[in-house]
Amino acid sequence: MITKEEYLQAKESLQEGKITQDVFLLIEQKYEQDKQRKNKITSEEWSKDDALQKRVKNAETVVYKAVFPGDTNHHNTMFGGTVLSYMDEVAFLTATRFSRKPIVTVSSDKINFEHSIPSGTIVKVVGKVAEIGRTSMKVFIEVFIESMYREGSELAITGTFTLVAINENKRPVAII
Ligand SMILES: CC(C)(COP(=O)(O)OP(=O)(O)OC[C@H]1O[C@@H](n2cnc3c(N)ncnc32)[C@H](O)[C@@H]1OP(=O)(O)O)[C@@H](O)C(=O)NCCC(=O)NCCS
Repeated sequence: MITKEEYLQAKESLQEGKITQDVFLLIEQKYEQDKQRKNKITSEEWSKDDALQKRVKNAETVVYKAVFPGDTNHHNTMFGGTVLSYMDEVAFLTATRFSRKPIVTVSSDKINFEHSIPSGTIVKVVGKVAEIGRTSMKVFIEVFIESMYREGSELAITGTFTLVAINENKRPVAII
């Protein structure tokens, strides 16, 4: 098993000419394989563990917002940056409610804007824990459009955010 520290040390050694590119590539390959294996084991353990499943379910977070004219662009539909900030906030809330530790967002994967969101509607933003790593977790976000005056909703946007638990020195710590 190659730790992150050993990987970074190997990178430094390569820069200093202490090891060759070939040796470094072997170390890098082993490091990536170990990371993938660790994530796979975590997912398998997750599906078997009832307490964890319950914790995942309890962390599900739903936030409703009204789409007022101040939230829209010149097409009279919701401004993408505003809805992205709602998505990030709900991802943060979901991760915090799951982990109960200080959390930061480290990345977001592809965001699909499938439908525009008209002014004067309600948006429902739903966050669900999708994957648990050692210090990080992925939260899947769905944004639904709801009419103010009719029942029903339509899925408009999806995206996945990765968030990391940190300590007082702002360094990653175990997520649970
Ligand atoms: C989050 C942060 C502490 C991670 O530091 P780091 O040195 O990259 O830490 P590590 O390499 O040990 O990675 C920690 C975890 O994050 C994951 N990670 C790091 N960068 C990532 C990225 N770009 N995308 C997805 N996951 C990532 C790692 O895979 C690891 O997960 P694991 O422990 O579950 O396997 C650091 O990047 C940071 O402070 N970023 C700024 C956060 C911020 O300000 N966000 C906006 C406001 S909330």
